[in-house]
Amino acid sequence: MPTSAALILAAGKGTRMRSERPKVLQSLLAEPMLAYVLEALRPLFTADDGSDAVWAVVGHRADLVEAAFPRLRAIRQEQQLGTGHALAEALPTLRENGCAHVLVVNGDVPLLSTETVRRFLEAARGAAIAFASISLDDAGAYGRVVRADDGEVTAIVEARDFDPGRHGPDTGEVNAGLYFLEVEAVSRLIPRLGNNNRSGEYYITDLVALGLAEGLTVRGINCGADESLLGVNSPAELARMEELLRARTAARLLENGVILHAPELVRVGPFAVVEPGAELTGPCEIYGHSRVERAASIASHCILTDSVVHDHAQIRPFSHLERAEVGQGALVGPFARLRPGAVLEPEAHVGNFVELKNARLGHGAKANHLSYLGDAEIGPAANIGAGTITCNYDGVHKHRTAIGARAFIGSNTALVAPVEVGDGALVGAGSVITRNVPAGEMGIARGRQKNLPRRS
Ligand code: UD1
Ligand code: CA
Repeated sequence: MPTSAALILAAGKGTRMRSERPKVLQSLLAEPMLAYVLEALRPLFTADDGSDAVWAVVGHRADLVEAAFPRLRAIRQEQQLGTGHALAEALPTLRENGCAHVLVVNGDVPLLSTETVRRFLEAARGAAIAFASISLDDAGAYGRVVRADDGEVTAIVEARDFDPGRHGPDTGEVNAGLYFLEVEAVSRLIPRLGNNNRSGEYYITDLVALGLAEGLTVRGINCGADESLLGVNSPAELARMEELLRARTAARLLENGVILHAPELVRVGPFAVVEPGAELTGPCEIYGHSRVERAASIASHCILTDSVVHDHAQIRPFSHLERAEVGQGALVGPFARLRPGAVLEPEAHVGNFVELKNARLGHGAKANHLSYLGDAEIGPAANIGAGTITCNYDGVHKHRTAIGARAFIGSNTALVAPVEVGDGALVGAGSVITRNVPAGEMGIARGRQKNLPRRS
């Protein structure tokens, strides 16, 4: 059983975001805020057997949060009565799991770094209650850290309740929303939290003064200007953090030997991999678990999500790829759309206004203009003429189209699936193919041309 666990407070509505979406699901570079926090904690709270000891308190639109993170150990806080109440709701679960200590962190700190948490845990060791503080030029809506003349912490006072007359001058030292708590000690204090304050909420931050009154070891650990602890409370802050993350990743890519044109417009998500020697031109967006291999290039105005671009492949401008795989040396675009399940084998070509979905283009096969290829298997070196459409949907079911190696599909062909065109077969332009075309034969299915005298 782990003796130490992490708890993310993620039940709040995020009122200041003015959004219907729970705050922890707001996205930065196409990943929800909560994913960043989990990612920072995981290395520190994963046991040798791979199980992790990270819980999250969820409440506002908990269904959405749980759906986005199906493996999350979620604890429900049905009514969001404050951060102290959120902790209270989680304590029974932590105790049942034998957690002696818990690291608590607000869910709205997407820049959180493993290193910051590691250093904080070091400094907190031995305390019954410890919290991280940061120093800001403008303390804004953060909870103020109040210290006595000797420098010892006496309380955290929430911004709305802070009164320099009573609490002393605003020093700019604020509570960062990262705590280390002894579970037994805080379990004793929790019933004494009140909500007699400006917000009418139970504050986790009141544990500081309560703990001191009990003679517990309470420590305020100043992390200086550590930006990794900045919280997101408004759309403007969300935009600022996203830009920070973006710029950081672009700088790392440059350092690693990725060529970036207009690096300030290159947006790469936290889980995407771009290998040294790859080339990206901004604006472009590379999200999810995408991978761009060395010597591959992504031109401007491309968006890739969960897609793999193998080495020496070129993605030309304005192409959109989602769960697609582009083989070595293949060419895509401009203006191509590769939807989930699109696979291009090496040296295949997909040109402008071509859409692929759940379709495989064999080695060196080409579909260069204006086509829809869905639920299709296209053999090596086949040529798909302009305007070819696989009619894969009969209104109820999807059906497959198979096109053999070296087959030639004339322009403006409709292939009514299920249907097969054999190896080396040819289909005449303008055909509506409803029956299989055997290998090596020519299929043509269109009205014969009649030439008549022109009326004057
Ligand atoms: C909180 C701290 C403040 C600190 C700041 C740092 C309190 C009372 N104040 O203020 O001292 O400077 O963080 O960023 O804790 N949440 C719940 N259940 C609730 C209410 C909130 O799970 O009932 C979660 C929210 O989803 C959020 C986190 O707790 O992730 C913090 O709540 P938030 O409302 O953002 O607190 P702040 O006002 O920022
Ligand atoms: Ca906050």
